[in-house]
Amino acid sequence: MDTLLEVKNLQTYFFMAEGVAKAVDSATFSIQRGQVLGVVGESGCGKSVTARSIMRMVRPPGHTVDGEILYTQTDEAGQSAPVDLLQLPATGPEMRSIRGGEIAMIFQEPRASLSPVHRIGDQITENILLHQDVSPSEAKEIAIEMLQQVNIPLADQRMNAYAHQLSGGMCQRVMIAMALSCHPSLLIADEPTTALDVTTEAQILELMQALQANLNMAIMFITHDLGIIADMADEVTVMYLGRVVERGSASDIFRDPKHPYTTALLESLPRMDQKREWLQTIRGVVPDPYSPLNGCPFHPRCAHFMPGICNEIVPQPINLEDGREVRCLLYTEHAV
Ligand SMILES: Nc1ncnc2c1ncn2[C@@H]1O[C@H](COP(=O)(O)OP(=O)(O)O)[C@@H](O)[C@H]1O
Ligand SMILES: [Mg+2]
Repeated sequence: MDTLLEVKNLQTYFFMAEGVAKAVDSATFSIQRGQVLGVVGESGCGKSVTARSIMRMVRPPGHTVDGEILYTQTDEAGQSAPVDLLQLPATGPEMRSIRGGEIAMIFQEPRASLSPVHRIGDQITENILLHQDVSPSEAKEIAIEMLQQVNIPLADQRMNAYAHQLSGGMCQRVMIAMALSCHPSLLIADEPTTALDVTTEAQILELMQALQANLNMAIMFITHDLGIIADMADEVTVMYLGRVVERGSASDIFRDPKHPYTTALLESLPRMDQKREWLQTIRGVVPDPYSPLNGCPFHPRCAHFMPGICNEIVPQPINLEDGREVRCLLYTEHAV
């Protein structure tokens, strides 16, 4: 395996008047070069904060208090060595060069991430000039080429457009063009299609898959939609209340989910082979993060709750035989 990014024991907390919200609570996972990692979980489970922690973009009152984010950097001579992003100053030159250059990110709301007062061509060109040693006219050429690659018609004319003149789908294509303009090794896509209609969503996903294959780029694809993950991901990380509760290959997780939370997420998916009037949803809601639960945080909603065990013992990650990791007491000696 060729590991590109290894996140170990990541802890990012929000220090609020109401208390401390452990948005990311000892998350551990890795991303292989050229592969797609799907990160799934309901809203509020810490997916976006994990992504922002990797980018070193968490703002107060949020702080990454512990952990390691080992990114494998390859120098011009082709030598690779891991660098711990958490040891770099968040706004220093090394992190600025990695952010947007080697690790790029696209967000759920493309329009909110583009400047309303600058032409899109200038925004892409500026990003290229920041990360690549090229002249302004070369940067402009690259920008037009990138807009063509993401299938924006009349790319050279669109360079002069402002974000408000483009549809949501077009804005997301622009964001992807901008993210890919510096050939990142890793693209973090945080719910990139949630704000789009289904037709546009399908086009954007297809585009991302094609670009990923052509550029041998890794993608950390964050979504609450397991259907997308089934199509796109090689590996899957399931998050619940800031913790990684299960991870493994996408095929294993879809065929045989181990954690009851993963099972519940899969059951809430619409199925082609079953005529259902409504979708089964997971009972209960994600609890508020300020009143931490004893034991396993999923126990109040779990279909396999073991009284006196799950509400008392904190499950630790367990390695199962097929390279799968699960954080659940059902797989320990406590289960009867
Ligand atoms: N700006 C913020 N201020 C306070 N708490 C925050 C902030 N952003 C995130 N959090 C906390 O982190 C938790 C996880 O948020 P997030 O990573 O955005 O969830 P997800 O992306 O999985 O929907 C939230 O439930 C909240 O408690
Ligand atoms: Mg989010």
